[in-house]
Amino acid sequence: MSWKAIDRTRVPEHGAGPGLSEAAKEKVRGFFPRYPDKRAAMLPALHIAQEEVGYISLQVMRDVAELLDVPPSKVMDVVTFYTHFWTHPRGRKVLMACRSISCDLMGGQKLREALLGKLGIGEQETTADGRFSFMTEECLAACDHAPCLMVNEKMHKRVRIEDLDRILADPDSDKLDMPRSTLFDAPRDDDPKPARAGEASARKKAVRKAKKRKKKAAPSEE
Ligand code: FES
Repeated sequence: MSWKAIDRTRVPEHGAGPGLSEAAKEKVRGFFPRYPDKRAAMLPALHIAQEEVGYISLQVMRDVAELLDVPPSKVMDVVTFYTHFWTHPRGRKVLMACRSISCDLMGGQKLREALLGKLGIGEQETTADGRFSFMTEECLAACDHAPCLMVNEKMHKRVRIEDLDRILADPDSDKLDMPRSTLFDAPRDDDPKPARAGEASARKKAVRKAKKRKKKAAPSEE
């Protein structure tokens, strides 16, 4: 096993691709009050965008840049830094195999080879029928259940080669059995109000001052 750099950035040659709907833009705007400035909503905006469009097209980068008041190159920087974001269309299910040490010690490499043999595609590619895309990650944070394979957001643990046909055939192989993160949704009215910029540090200062006062007022132990 060795560290392998993978070029995941593939931008379609023609056209800027689809953009964000007004509903998605509104969802992104819903995150603005949570942060000191709009730029800080970059990651939720990109999650919302990928959720809606399926990937982050050039037009989506432009739309997000306009919403957040940043140059499109800043959005591209973020998109190409995080492996989660795709710059070209994905299949309906993304199979994400771990390629890090714990999984490889438990047969991860053979599992990946068997999976790729069944799919007939390579890293960051999609099957001709659009059902599956394949990618690898350094660690899926479930090393004690190695080897691991994620199907969209669903984690499959201790996967054996003989499990692959069942996982590929199962229409619910990506269904979560836990509540999904609200990161994808704009804050609701009943969410606890986040501290505004400066409020948290003002609170910390007040606590520090109060501690100092208490210390001064405390009688000496001698
Ligand atoms: S090494 Fe595979 S999940 Fe951590």
